[in-house]
Amino acid sequence: LIIRRSDYRPPDWLVPEITLDFDLDAAATRVHATLSVVRNGGQDRPLRLDGDGLLPLEVKVDGRALGPDEWALDGGALVIALPGQAHVVETRVELAPEGNSKLMGLYASSGLLCTQCEAEGFRRITFFPDRPDVLSRYTVRMEADKARYPVLLANGDPVGQGDLPGGRHWARWNDPFPKPCYLFALVAGDLACNADRFVTMSGQEVALGIWVKKADLPRTAHAMKALKDSMAWDERVYGREYDLDVFNIVAVADFNFGAMENKGLNIFNSRYILADPETATDLDYDGVEGVVAHEYFHNWSGNRITCRDWFQLSLKEGFTVFRDQSFSADMGSRAVKRIEDVRILRAAQFQEDSGPLAHPVRPESYMEISNFYTATIYNKGAELIRMIALMLGPERFRASTDLYFERHDGEAATCEDFVRAMEDGGGVDLAQFRLWYEQAGTPRVRALLNHDADAGTAELVLEQTVPPTPGQPDKKPMAIPLRVALFDPQSGQHRGDQLLMLTEAKQAFTFTGFAQPPVLSINRGFSAPVIVESNRSQADLAFLSARDDDPFARYEAMQQLMVNVLVGSIGGQPVDEAAVVAAIRHTATDPQLDPAFVAEAIRLPSEAYLGDQMAVVDPDAIHAAREALQRRIGEALEPLWRDIHARTKANAFSLSPAAKGARKLRNIALHYLVASGAQDGPEIAFGQFHEADNMTERQAALATLANGASDAREAALDIFYNRYRDDALTLDKWFQTQAFAFHPDTVQLVAELREHKDFTLTNPNRVRSLFGAFAGNQWAFHDKSGKGYRLVADCIIALDKINPQTAARLVPPLGRWRRFDEGRAAMMRAELERILTEPGLSRDVTEQAGKSLE
Ligand code: ARG
Ligand code: ZN
Repeated sequence: LIIRRSDYRPPDWLVPEITLDFDLDAAATRVHATLSVVRNGGQDRPLRLDGDGLLPLEVKVDGRALGPDEWALDGGALVIALPGQAHVVETRVELAPEGNSKLMGLYASSGLLCTQCEAEGFRRITFFPDRPDVLSRYTVRMEADKARYPVLLANGDPVGQGDLPGGRHWARWNDPFPKPCYLFALVAGDLACNADRFVTMSGQEVALGIWVKKADLPRTAHAMKALKDSMAWDERVYGREYDLDVFNIVAVADFNFGAMENKGLNIFNSRYILADPETATDLDYDGVEGVVAHEYFHNWSGNRITCRDWFQLSLKEGFTVFRDQSFSADMGSRAVKRIEDVRILRAAQFQEDSGPLAHPVRPESYMEISNFYTATIYNKGAELIRMIALMLGPERFRASTDLYFERHDGEAATCEDFVRAMEDGGGVDLAQFRLWYEQAGTPRVRALLNHDADAGTAELVLEQTVPPTPGQPDKKPMAIPLRVALFDPQSGQHRGDQLLMLTEAKQAFTFTGFAQPPVLSINRGFSAPVIVESNRSQADLAFLSARDDDPFARYEAMQQLMVNVLVGSIGGQPVDEAAVVAAIRHTATDPQLDPAFVAEAIRLPSEAYLGDQMAVVDPDAIHAAREALQRRIGEALEPLWRDIHARTKANAFSLSPAAKGARKLRNIALHYLVASGAQDGPEIAFGQFHEADNMTERQAALATLANGASDAREAALDIFYNRYRDDALTLDKWFQTQAFAFHPDTVQLVAELREHKDFTLTNPNRVRSLFGAFAGNQWAFHDKSGKGYRLVADCIIALDKINPQTAARLVPPLGRWRRFDEGRAAMMRAELERILTEPGLSRDVTEQAGKSLE
């Protein structure tokens, strides 16, 4: 069953008010819903309330109980033929939260009861028009055993509570803002609160609460700081103020994604709330800050203005990712944040865009909407907003977002509404730019710079192609904003950064006043999410890697220099490794540079990224070439790595940018030192593992040791396990580090870890830490025996029976078979086919595996 964007029709019935009454219990929860329904538009269709796995115990209309022939169930939905314009409809159902392993709807997680409704989980709680363009005012009453569930939370503001006989109690919450049902939430459980307050720009006081298991309270400080920083930032940068008296966040251990922006009651995967130096890496800290911000920012970009239908998902997700990226850039290093974001985009989204699951930022159709919470919707979507912000400039972009928020507040809007607000507020024409929402595939831009010595001119010829993607064989030229600078190699200067708009298939730009051939710096700041192919020499790239004043372009030049050498050596061509070593030495010894930037710039491109540069991915050749270059860099600069490693050792832990940068640089120095093959490498790594007062250094040392066989490897893994066996989030790192390691026996080790007593398919974080990490380990997953494919397929099949959403997320790595040699491709296809023959396969996995074979 395929849902199409073109089939959109406004709802037949609206639900301006809903009252929900929950009698909560892990085994049997009773839900009594009272909906005021109003016919929408001049049509006479029946009332259809979505349901998934629900059986009505009672149905009432305007107070009268209906007989069994007065309603029907149709594909799970409750259908009632209603005359007239307005009615009050009541339903009663019973749920079993502790049996809900899909983690959608109302479910139990280590003694708590909690909900996840986006995208279509509310229909697993009660009968309702489960679509984002039906907005209702919610009143929620909960009743539960007071000892087991002392805390009862829901959306909006608390308006009453009290005790009941028999050790029970109740609470009532009221959310004054009409919202779609995917933003509904409740939590019941024995939770402790990190309570704080925030005074908004208009002087309203907001009570902030981060609710966790009591033992986790000391690990909530960073999340609270991130929340307050986000609230202040959204006021300052977007003029957006919070709008309720309370804002609550709850952390739960079992969660399908990162977090959820339910109005006034965000629910988080605990990995994006809990952090302390003992257990969280700097990356984890940044993840907490970024996701807290993301969910908070949704209050405006998502909740106050929501999506008309799920094809518009990027309206809220792309914009909100752009907002959280900008926030994190302001909180830390702008340059490093941009490099990290582009690395994620290339690793996840470019791969998606070049495979069988490629889809536009605004898709045309889907079978299961959960499969569309993708890097394309989120990360490419964010790049679209970034391009608009760049083309408009900061003042006009702010005017346009003000207009958007004002114009659509309280509405369920479309991507088109957003683009029109950008045009109207910014005074620009985005007609051609709209293709970015329609056309899938990563555009390729060929950039050739020609120099005419006699005329003293440089001519930049740009040519774009957008590759065919499923259902889109022919593409139109896109509007691509490229920031460009031309460097004079003598002075090392350029005459200013220019924004070129590439709008045709082929276009030439002429620059005058160049007696000498300039060096091209292009797509500075990664101004457009495209692949640039240029005719720049290794010497040009080395020059830029040392001189470009745009940090992203400087990083990129270094990466391209490395890619050229690695791809060249894989192809058996003579290559100049010394140029890479020299560029790394230059960067690593430049005292002007931020150590965090240095650490990014001197890192070799990942094996997966190298694979993306090849016509046919050869995982073994890539691994061998990359390991060899790593060793060469390690050996050639061994004293430098020793020196950096020694001098970046801190006396006391701090989260200052300087301390984080030092740790990042220290870890890569350790990595190269071990890669050099130096005798004392493992010993130094073990020393760092043992002495570290923080997880950033401890895990990096463990990861370095995990790559090779040594006594230190086994010792470190044992120590780590015994120290953290009772801390699920940290134990995840133990699984993940082994699954991600470049150890020759990784496939076998993962097969053994699957049988480990601490492995379980019921916790999505644990599944991702073993199988998600393994599927991202190109060399191991693509082991030519095919055992890696079989392991992942077995996991998908077993997990699909428990949690189809999380199972479906493991399918795309198998779907990349077209990129590999025939032997591997055949084995990958065979696993996809085996998955598809499983009886009772979910719609989630059916869609992903089916499309992967097409
Ligand atoms: N809206 C949530 C967020 O971005 C994610 C919800 C994911 N839901 C899903 N069905 N995949 O922050
Ligand atoms: Zn989001």
